[in-house]
Amino acid sequence: MVRLFFSFLAFPILFGHVESVATKFVFTGNFVCDMPDFEYRMVLWEKDSSSGDDVMTIQGPKVSRDPHYYEITGEQDGDEITTSAYEAYMVIVHSCTHPEKPYRKLSVPLGEFPFRDKTYYKSVDINLTNQGKLVTNIMGYEGFSGK
Ligand SMILES: *[C@@H]1O[C@H](CO)[C@@H](O)[C@H](O)[C@H]1NC(C)=O
Repeated sequence: MVRLFFSFLAFPILFGHVESVATKFVFTGNFVCDMPDFEYRMVLWEKDSSSGDDVMTIQGPKVSRDPHYYEITGEQDGDEITTSAYEAYMVIVHSCTHPEKPYRKLSVPLGEFPFRDKTYYKSVDINLTNQGKLVTNIMGYEGFSGK
């Protein structure tokens, strides 16, 4: 009976997956941009090799004004049990470019975060000035295919 009890207890621990585990993320920082204001749209992603990446949060399109502080939060509930950590990144489409249009799209890795029932806080400063791949609009489309 004691052994049975412990094996039930050990199961969720071994697989790192309990229903109540909610991992939260708070990313903050400054955009480095030499312009007083610019437009941006930011998407926080969790990289998931088995089923395609998950969107955690979409922010904007909105205007950033000097000083260019940002904050984006997200949450994951432990649906991926093949690895032991979340890998987060964000994609920013912005107009901190010279000339101001078209937009540029930049992908920024944010690191790996072990599955825990906790909130991770991380500060990341991001240089946007002329950074990223040229795209046709604030949604990040490349060309006219809608992708
Ligand atoms: C930001 O990137 C631009 C363009 O590559 C570069 O000229 C500038 O020096 C960078 N600024 C900082 C603070 O790294």
